[in-house]
Amino acid sequence: MAPSVADLAQSTVEQATNSVAKLNLKETKQEKVEEKGPSYPFYYPYWDVDEKFPPTELFEHTDPGLRADPKKPNLLGPNTKVQHISPYLGTEIRGVQISQLSEAGLDELALYAAERKLLVFRDQDFKDLGPDKQIALTKRYGPIQRHPTSGNVKGYPEFHVVYRDADRDPFREYLGANRLFKTGWHSDVSYEKQPPGTTFFFILDQPDVGGDTLFASQVEAYNRLSPEFQKRLEGLRAVHSAVAQAEHSKQRGGPVRREPVETEHPLVRKHPVTGEKALYINQGFTRRIVGYKDEESEWLLKFLFDHISKGADFIVRASYEPGTVVVWDNRVTVHSATPDFDKTIRRHAVRLTPQAEVPIPA
Ligand SMILES: [Fe+2]
Repeated sequence: MAPSVADLAQSTVEQATNSVAKLNLKETKQEKVEEKGPSYPFYYPYWDVDEKFPPTELFEHTDPGLRADPKKPNLLGPNTKVQHISPYLGTEIRGVQISQLSEAGLDELALYAAERKLLVFRDQDFKDLGPDKQIALTKRYGPIQRHPTSGNVKGYPEFHVVYRDADRDPFREYLGANRLFKTGWHSDVSYEKQPPGTTFFFILDQPDVGGDTLFASQVEAYNRLSPEFQKRLEGLRAVHSAVAQAEHSKQRGGPVRREPVETEHPLVRKHPVTGEKALYINQGFTRRIVGYKDEESEWLLKFLFDHISKGADFIVRASYEPGTVVVWDNRVTVHSATPDFDKTIRRHAVRLTPQAEVPIPA
């Protein structure tokens, strides 16, 4: 029988909770409250600076959404409650258990994620499935990306761990302490030759309020542009770079598991399943437009980054409740964390990031 999360956690529980408990004793005037530690210590972020991965190799990708029944009878049943968050993107779903879906249902999930761009599944048992099942279920959407710098799980480099508590504030570390706001728009690891598609993110500990993720539709961002401007963008390519992320990790003594890559992608890409065109640039990783002089590139990227981040009418928030699993299509969205909650509160989440096709130029 496969070991449960509880079994697997035993080795890391003590280490994780000890270090957290030692540092996180909350003290008030009246009493000392012992910090309980992470609810899922198995997924406490793990870094081994000696961990190394070979360069990624190209693979053939067939999107599961292509096999799906457009009516989605295996995903959305009579007891499913579906609530759209905005006309352009985002749907909250209740009454579906991802872990119980058939093969056909899982294909339909990919199609629905492509169409709605962001799905917020409530009341999931996903976090309790254990690492092997979590990986098996998500790798049908593509080989899981192993992050070159972030915290992962010992023995399971497929997990990308997002963790913040009173002693660890990665937002402050990464974005700097002297900024007016701490949003940072990006699509995940877009520097990969085959960037992620259907992406899973499950929450383990969350604040009661705050810690939402903002998502913007890159399809609607593209649609808002004039036909003349759209024509100008199509055919352009931009460089996406992993260098700054690797440098940052190195500076703080973290790992660089793979040599950082720089990859050219089309500035407007076409989704392989829906055929929709989307802007494919993001502030986090896109550095320059190929063939443009520096000032031209800076001007165009600044305009597009502003356009996307100001699009409040094509931006939504995904909120987290215990048991929430958020699934997004990383090809047609950008997102940002909102570190707006009290710094003493723990937020702990895990991402599984299947890679998809080489971006198709529009
Ligand atoms: Fe992200």
